[in-house]
Order: sequence, then C-alpha cells, then structure tokens
Amino acid sequence: MQLSTRHLLGIKDLSPNDISIILQTAGQFKEVLQRPVKKVPTLRDVTIVNLFYENSTRTRISFELAEKRLSADTINFTTGSSSVSKGETLLDTVNNILSMKVDMVVMRHSASGAPHFLAQHIPAAIVNAGDGVNEHPTQALLDAFSIAEKTGGLEGRKVVLVGDIMHSRVALSNIYLLRKMGAEVMVAGPPTLIPKYIAPALGVKVEYNLKKALQWCDVANVLRIQLERQNQVLFSSLREYNLAYGVTRRLLDSLNKEIVIMHPGPINRGVEIDSDVADGNQSIILQQVENGVAVRMAVLYLLSGGKSRAAANV
Ligand code: CP
Repeated sequence: MQLSTRHLLGIKDLSPNDISIILQTAGQFKEVLQRPVKKVPTLRDVTIVNLFYENSTRTRISFELAEKRLSADTINFTTGSSSVSKGETLLDTVNNILSMKVDMVVMRHSASGAPHFLAQHIPAAIVNAGDGVNEHPTQALLDAFSIAEKTGGLEGRKVVLVGDIMHSRVALSNIYLLRKMGAEVMVAGPPTLIPKYIAPALGVKVEYNLKKALQWCDVANVLRIQLERQNQVLFSSLREYNLAYGVTRRLLDSLNKEIVIMHPGPINRGVEIDSDVADGNQSIILQQVENGVAVRMAVLYLLSGGKSRAAANV
C-alpha cells in the first residue's frame, strides 16, 4: 500500500484512499503497541529530525515515541537551545541538519505554510506537526482513528467541532478529513470565533447554540480557546465563555442521548470543558493520545518509502 504523496503537509492534499491506508496501517501498529515487546525494526537505518519551532507536549512526545518504536534514529530540535536565536534562517537550519544525512523532518511552526516552504526546498520527506492556523494533519488522523474505534466508523457519523474554529488548525484538518470520509460536520461556538465563509467553503453546518449542536451530534470534539493567536477581543471573558460555550456535566445531562467527548489538548479546564466531563466516562481524550503513537508510526512508515523494511516486519 502506497500513499499518493511523499510528504504529509495537510489533510487537504490526501485522497480518501490515502486516509484509509493510514488508518488501516495505524490499526496494525496499535496491535504492535499491545505486545510485551513494542518495538519493531521497520525504520532501522532511517534518521528523523523533530523540528519544533513552537511548544508542544503531546505531538512532540508522540512522534518521538513512534520513531523509537519503529527503531529509527531520532534528533530533537527546539528553538530555545538552537542557533535560531543568533539569527539563523529556517532554510539554513534545515540544510545544516540535512547535511548530516537526515531522511525525514517532522516540523511544527507558528507560521502557516512553513512545512510547505521546506518541502519545496529540501529533498527529505516532511511531516507537518502543526503549522500556524493552517493544518495539524496527524491530530485529525488520530481523532478519526479514535472516532472510528469508538463508534464503528466515520461514514455518516455526526461530529461537532466546538469553540475557537477561527484559530484552530485542528478544526481545519478535522473538517477536511471527516468530509472526505463521509461524516457530517458541524461547527459550534460564538459568531466571532467562526469564520463567515466556512459553511459554503467547507461544507459544514454552523450552529451558535451549543445545546442544539450537542443534541445533533454523535461526537463532540471540544477545542481550546487559542488566546495566543488572537490579537483582538473576540468574547467578553473566559467566565462568560464557559457559561455560554463550556461543555459541562449539567449540559450533557440535559441531552436526551449520550455523546462521545473528545479534546485534542491542551485542555483549559473550566473554560471550554469542565473537569468532570473531560475526566468522565463519555470522554475518550486519553485514548486519543494513546492512538496518536500508532497513527504517527503509520505515517512515518508509509512516508519512509524505499528506506523502510517490509510491512511483514511489522
Ligand atoms: N494536540 C496537540 O497538538 O497538543 P500539543 O500542542 O501538546 O502537541
């Protein structure tokens, strides 16, 4: 099985067949991760650099763990301890790293399009680990894997993305993926945090009333308010945001059905979601994190092309 692309820059570029291949391969790697010995030789002799120009907990650890489980050699780069502070450009930094014979680059950057720029200038395979407000493709893939695992599939599933849609790369990648795989998608939140063009442009429903949105859906993926990306006041206060758009136990109890609760993390407890919901029995938040390792193993394996060992070694 082969992907139609040599980089993973965004879900926008993937075909439904590519997405199916990644999710199916992730299922095989999830089985590997249940074994007593969780390591396979699949990417032995492959060197991967994790280039994180923006903070991360889950994605960085998950990629590093995926690489180690596949027996790849890994290098971790964070800007704080690098020569970026001395004025070195992104391209110079990456070309210097590549001259040390690196095969793949996993990259997070606060600038939308940074991994696309790299893909045009360097020969290594690039995996986008989140670029500005554009895309976070592996998050959408692990979200899809988790929805399918919990509910039995994506086709016809009703998924609502709640909160700061305007600044969320997770929202955009989820919308592309879920629509390509036949799910129905709604976005819900305050009008100031939902782009005006989104319904016709991306084929999603829009709902400003959270209770109505939750009543409609099978799955609610609750997103963080991205204060660090907002340069103007878009809602009155975090307290008022929680009153109108926070997913609370009382709100879930008022629905006439049980829905699945997701969150990509990091969580702002008491703002977009209350603790008893995030930690409750409808939540699959930690399963999402667990599935992230298998999904990233699948992506790295499939993009490594000729350098990986046969799938039989999985
Ligand atoms: N979900 C996610 O991208 O989390 P991190 O920012 O911690 O990687």
